Amino acid sequence: MEFYKAKKLRGTVTVPGDKSISHRSVMLASLAQGTSEITNFLEGADCLSTIACFRRLGTEIEKKAAGHIMVRGRGPNGLTAPDTTLDAGNSGTTTRLISGILAAQNFSARLTGDDSIQKRPMKRIMEPLSLMGADITSEKGNDCAPLLIKGRPLHGIHYTTKVASAQVKSAILLAGLYAEGDTRITEPYISRNHSEIMLRLFGADLSTQDTTVCLKPGNPLYARSIQVPGDISSAAYFIAAGSIVPDSEILIRNVGINPTRDGILKVARAMGADIAMENLRTDSGEASADLLIRSASLHGTRIGGSLIPTLIDELPVIAVMAAFAEGVTVIQDAAELKVKESNRIDVVTKNLSAMGCDVQATPDGMIIRGGRPLHGAALDSRNDHRIAMSFAVAALLADGVTTISGSECVNISYPSFYSDLKRLM
Ligand code: S3P
Repeated sequence: MEFYKAKKLRGTVTVPGDKSISHRSVMLASLAQGTSEITNFLEGADCLSTIACFRRLGTEIEKKAAGHIMVRGRGPNGLTAPDTTLDAGNSGTTTRLISGILAAQNFSARLTGDDSIQKRPMKRIMEPLSLMGADITSEKGNDCAPLLIKGRPLHGIHYTTKVASAQVKSAILLAGLYAEGDTRITEPYISRNHSEIMLRLFGADLSTQDTTVCLKPGNPLYARSIQVPGDISSAAYFIAAGSIVPDSEILIRNVGINPTRDGILKVARAMGADIAMENLRTDSGEASADLLIRSASLHGTRIGGSLIPTLIDELPVIAVMAAFAEGVTVIQDAAELKVKESNRIDVVTKNLSAMGCDVQATPDGMIIRGGRPLHGAALDSRNDHRIAMSFAVAALLADGVTTISGSECVNISYPSFYSDLKRLM
């Protein structure tokens, strides 16, 4: 697909439902008693993979309207053995979270996904789940999917993670629902806490202290109505675009602003972005607001430490903002970027360099010397949705034509991204 320079971006955009919360809503609703109604559910390919997996496990899920689904819960022990391999597609969240549930069932399952999923590290969940008593093996012996999971009785553990990962924490918590005894997880920094919020909403006995979360099993889960807020990771492209394209003003409606996800707002503001927040509210335990973004002149910043888990998926588009900001931006402590849907340190630095940016990859991030004019180039998305969207934003300020291969991969998290962006031009 081809992209061109934009003179200005003006108008209103409503980003789709939050991907992380959408996945969790289907999973917890499946394990609850009663029927849960979920609205503003993200109908992106990743969350549709979660729906497909749970249908294979016996959950009835009915689509009422766009983004509106009904999930008939089967109770914690009501899932049934799948008759075929479970396919998580491109979704790391589906793969890792469902593994925690499968580990405790009274049946076995085989779980796999696309080429990218089959390269992503699964040892991070296999290790703690095995310590809980799970029988989970990597078919090829490379600690990646396909995974063979034989359900077993589990027991609680206190697990300390090396990296802050909500996927790992959530897999352990979901297994902990079935375990004998308490399950505790301590993270180096707090990762997104959507599982904790939703588990509590469904009735689980869960408490948190500093970076430790504790789940006491035994409480029944009851069906709930969930209103999914808009995805701040999808809003990030408009926060960046509205800030860097001159003469812009974009109102982004209904954006989730959970403090474990709002690093993009902190960093954009630290770089000089003009972001006003209106209409603050809370739905299903998750805060959201409308964001008004106006063009601003940006400057470089330093990003690392506890901020990283709060903006891990936004780092590619933050790197694009940094390319148009005056001065140096340093991103560190973000080695996790190498094991996302693609190696995002490698692909971001290669694509920015191809556009004329002064950027250097480091082992745990990148250094961007911003402020040079960028030019259009032929870029590879590596079928990574966040890379395609980030470079569609970079193209808005680049001279000449930018082409992005595999651009349709935005279907993973934001199927209407290109039409929403075009309406603002
Ligand atoms: C997610 C957690 C993050 C994030 C991913 C979604 C989640 O991954 O990058 O896109 O829904 O829990 P990690 O937990 O592995 O950092």
